[in-house]
Amino acid sequence: MALTLEEQPKVTLKERATKLNESLKGSQAWNSIFRPGSIFRKGYTDSPRNRSYVIMNSVLYHLHPVKVKRHAVKVSYTLCLGGLSFFLFILLTVTGIFLMFFYRPTATNAWQDIQSLQTSVTFGLMVRNMHRWGAHLMVLSVFLHMARVFYHGAYKAPREFNWVIGVILLTLTLLLSFTGYLLPWDQLALWAVAVGTNMMGYSPVIGSQVRFVLLGGVEIGAETLLRWYVLHVLLFPFITVIFLAVHFWRVRKDGGISGPL
Ligand code: HEM
Repeated sequence: MALTLEEQPKVTLKERATKLNESLKGSQAWNSIFRPGSIFRKGYTDSPRNRSYVIMNSVLYHLHPVKVKRHAVKVSYTLCLGGLSFFLFILLTVTGIFLMFFYRPTATNAWQDIQSLQTSVTFGLMVRNMHRWGAHLMVLSVFLHMARVFYHGAYKAPREFNWVIGVILLTLTLLLSFTGYLLPWDQLALWAVAVGTNMMGYSPVIGSQVRFVLLGGVEIGAETLLRWYVLHVLLFPFITVIFLAVHFWRVRKDGGISGPL
């Protein structure tokens, strides 16, 4: 039964305004006008729902899971070896871009460019060493990361697919390391690559074709240098980034880091 005007509870104008204001806040209209801090995050009040909301709505935070299992944040479980491998990949990309400003991949310039990089360019020697040592460290950390995953049995269901992605990433890491090795164009590089490509030449059936494609000819020369340079700075890093994205996405989709046994 409808209430008469006298029976209805008295609502003051101020109360009405407050109610209207509250229903407006949080509505689309409000959000489209009052979003000055929305580039980074929404306002934060501490409740489980709000914590999730903040993570999901920030471009930076949403890369992280809303919830993590307690063991996953224990450094002693993963030793952060996957994270360390990724950090080294970023470091190698940044230092590699620096090196590209001073290096020309031709038989006449390559060795000389490295020498002048070390002697005449500010921080040149340091950045070159960061790139070289970083590469060695990345091979080591990726291998140790794989050993950690194996030790924890994290290759088992539902993570088999991510293990396969991992094997591809290990191969790419080794290929990046090997192609970079030739670029200083010194005796060490030439003979190391001569041994490596000769070994590949002994692969069954397609051995000599593989060797020919890798060398860009029948022996190591200027064509090999250019070919390996393009593979090293462009193709392999590009493929690696794609597989890294799938690898990280898979970690999340497989329910986060595997649990302790
Ligand atoms: C460029 C190389 C690689 C990078 C940057 C990388 C990065 C990562 C990161 C950040 C994680 C999260 C957990 C952690 O830090 O341990 C992870 C997990 C994992 N990675 Fe890798 N990874 C690489 C290579 C590999 C390789 C070579 C394998 C195995 C053949 C592998 C297999 C896995 C598996 C199965 C997981 C899930 C582990 C778990 O749930 O405990 N990854 N990886």
